[in-house]
Amino acid sequence: MENLAALYPAHVAELNRRVAEVCARENIAGLVIHSGQPHRQFLDDMDYPFKVNPHFKAWLPVIDNPHCWLLVNGADKPQLIFYRPEDFWHKVADVPTEFWTEQVEIKLLTKADKVADLLPSDVSQWAYIGEHIDVAEVLGFKSRNPEAVMSYLHFHRASKTQYELECLRMANQIAVKGHLAAKSAFYAGANEFEIQQQYLSATDQSENQMPYGNIVALNENAAILHYTALAHQAPSERHSFLIDAGASFHGYAADITRTYAFEKNLFGELITAIDVLQREIIAMMRPGVKYVDLHLATHHKLAQVLIDFNLATGSTTDLIESGVTSVFFPHGLGHMLGLQVHDMGGFLHDERGTHIAPPDAHPFLRCTRTLDVNQVLTIEPGLYIIDSLLAPLKADHRKQMVLWDTVDKLRPFGGIRIEDNVIVHHDSVENMTRDLGLND
Ligand code: GLY
Ligand code: MN
Ligand code: MN
Repeated sequence: MENLAALYPAHVAELNRRVAEVCARENIAGLVIHSGQPHRQFLDDMDYPFKVNPHFKAWLPVIDNPHCWLLVNGADKPQLIFYRPEDFWHKVADVPTEFWTEQVEIKLLTKADKVADLLPSDVSQWAYIGEHIDVAEVLGFKSRNPEAVMSYLHFHRASKTQYELECLRMANQIAVKGHLAAKSAFYAGANEFEIQQQYLSATDQSENQMPYGNIVALNENAAILHYTALAHQAPSERHSFLIDAGASFHGYAADITRTYAFEKNLFGELITAIDVLQREIIAMMRPGVKYVDLHLATHHKLAQVLIDFNLATGSTTDLIESGVTSVFFPHGLGHMLGLQVHDMGGFLHDERGTHIAPPDAHPFLRCTRTLDVNQVLTIEPGLYIIDSLLAPLKADHRKQMVLWDTVDKLRPFGGIRIEDNVIVHHDSVENMTRDLGLND
């Protein structure tokens, strides 16, 4: 792992370069990026967990402090207005002294509603970037999240700096520890809730620090794509375990999935087949390759797996064109990853904001970009027994294409997903997840 402090100045320089370019193009003085404000729970005096504006944490690893502001224009040293109230109820953030502070000028704000005193006296030429449009309006910003600026930033965000790549490796390293602990807990007989606790302990992160709600699914729960229920009761029979769980590092996310069979059986062989398929798709990743083509190649390979495992019959083309593969694999191959789990910009084709939608037959695909150097993506093929999706097949001519005995045999196992986080390099692809120790 390289030294983050050494990589950080070049990261800020690149963000400054981008801001200078887009501000010149859009004729604005600079960006005022708001970290955010807490959201109050209805009829309560408590707030929801704070989630920082991703445009803010792109500049600094400050992820837990609302009412902060960052002024950037690409030429001057970025100015950070850092919120530090007098408050005896809550923990107040320390005055920052970490490695990143050398690259910014810091002013302290003690009262959230006094920020105008520290902002430029006339903000009408500056663009507000943040969630609280009403606050921006009151402060006098005329330009709020201008689309041209957002498209530019979201398009370029796909190319990670070396600092960002290191943060993403660190997030993977932490998540891998959790996955190894969760796997042991599964084989030791733990229930879903206990496995989640083991995962969190091993990552040394709380549930709120996770970049998304972990999916910890035993048996048929693995077929529920966004299962986050965490049963406290262990099932009477143990068949399978799917875990989709990440970790955060300096605001960057890991997003990793593994599936395990409790015993050696057909389901275990199917996991191996999906694992091989996933590695083959990753091996196809190079600058210039279209992500949509990887998704379509996955359907071809998956059709062959369905045939090989007696789940379906017919030609691979028929199975794809009739929608059978989409019933077993209904989600997209993956997405861009970074400050957000589903990082912005997956559909952008240029910095002007040209949007390319996924193919009609694949509406849940989250990325239609052409791969380029330093992009970070997930590759997460899956195969599930989802009865609500299988039902229409049973009702028409496609009934003959599915071998229902095998479907019945696999139903108690739920499903399989295998998800790694990869970096596209010039002439290679780096699988962070496997390189950092999650090899099966
Ligand atoms: N964990 C969310 C996803 O895999 O996209
Ligand atoms: Mn995931
Ligand atoms: Mn994912």
